[in-house]
Amino acid sequence: MTAMQPDEQLAVVLDASDPLPTRRAEFRVPPFGTGEAAYLAGNSLGLQPRALRERLETELDDWARLGVEGHTQARRPWLPYHELLREPAALLVGARPEEVVVMNSLTINLHLLMVSFYRPTPRRHAIVIEDSAFPSDSYAVRSQAAFHGFDPDEAVVRTDDVAAYLDEEGERVALVLLGAVNYFTGELFDIDAITAAGHAAGAVVGWDLAHAAGNVPLRMHDSGADWAAWCSYKYLNAGPGSLAGVFVHERHLADRALPKFAGWWSTDPRTRFEMAPAVTPVDTADSWQVSNPPILAMAPVLLSLEMFGQTGMEALRAKSMRLTDYLASLLAQVCAAGKAEVITPPDPGRRGAQLSVRISGRDVRPLTERLRDEFGVYTDARSPDVLRLAPVPMYNTFHDCWRAAAALAAVLDD
Ligand SMILES: Cc1ncc(COP(=O)(O)O)c(C=O)c1O
Repeated sequence: MTAMQPDEQLAVVLDASDPLPTRRAEFRVPPFGTGEAAYLAGNSLGLQPRALRERLETELDDWARLGVEGHTQARRPWLPYHELLREPAALLVGARPEEVVVMNSLTINLHLLMVSFYRPTPRRHAIVIEDSAFPSDSYAVRSQAAFHGFDPDEAVVRTDDVAAYLDEEGERVALVLLGAVNYFTGELFDIDAITAAGHAAGAVVGWDLAHAAGNVPLRMHDSGADWAAWCSYKYLNAGPGSLAGVFVHERHLADRALPKFAGWWSTDPRTRFEMAPAVTPVDTADSWQVSNPPILAMAPVLLSLEMFGQTGMEALRAKSMRLTDYLASLLAQVCAAGKAEVITPPDPGRRGAQLSVRISGRDVRPLTERLRDEFGVYTDARSPDVLRLAPVPMYNTFHDCWRAAAALAAVLDD
């Protein structure tokens, strides 16, 4: 075995002395050689918790053993299963339990929420998104504008300065929809301030929390935001394409005038099986549900939320800042030669776990492949020239950060 360099030794010491022990051993980390990869792609797809297999087997066994009776007789009965997720999901995003529900996928939820909260008029029909919004959000808002008969090129405004746009053109804005943490740059927006600015302009304000949920502490209720949605396959580790969450602010919950697309899961569960032809509304976020939930997809979300509840978002955020600050300091050395540049805000309060590195003039995709195949370092590429690395506090270590920075330095040197 080769002796460790002092900087690697420091990473090992930081891991041993950190006040929040890693839960890495509770996850299945992709193998590399005889050891494990340094997996810094949890902002794209989180790792699999080891406990998940047993959780899924429980549901499979109950289904095998009970058939349809599992709806009421399963160890976790399926009919009210989604209610188990309500409190922990609310805790995760800083909401009241009645304000959240876990259902569907993220973009589907954006659409269902825009059915209620994008109510354009000829004078006020613009939708403001960030300039580097995730494409799915852009496609979703453009299709909503078109659905209402507006020209998406005119109705959808992409801007880097939302506050300035609201100041100048606020009276034409119907909806502001932003990613709380931008998927590309990793910037964390000021949710309270932008929500207040949107409301002052007379607009509805919704948030895409895909890169924020499980990454930074959130206070969605107190922010006053009208609604939000998030997925749970990134920082929440609930598996590829796993179910998404929805937040609707309390002040909208009893508004019977809001249009919604309904199904049998929208109606009051106490009378659901009376098979009435019309919905009996409930005054919770549950009324945005449409279909009965997929239990096999919900089990991983429940496990994930339990794990986040055990560690707590505040402790995770504190560790996340320690890890990301450390990685940022290493990347500053790697970037010193001028071949790369970190484009994420340097202020730890204005970013989550993710750091985005621009490598101008290089195709980053083969670079990520080299990092993975030669060094066991998982990152991801975002076109055209950005590499994203996210030390995830649940399972990443200071040593993972050291490995990532050392590998990046090596491939940039070539
Ligand atoms: C910010 C953002 N919005 C939307 C999506 C799309 O999510 P889904 O495919 O679950 O609808 C993603 C996926 O990564 C995302 O990062």
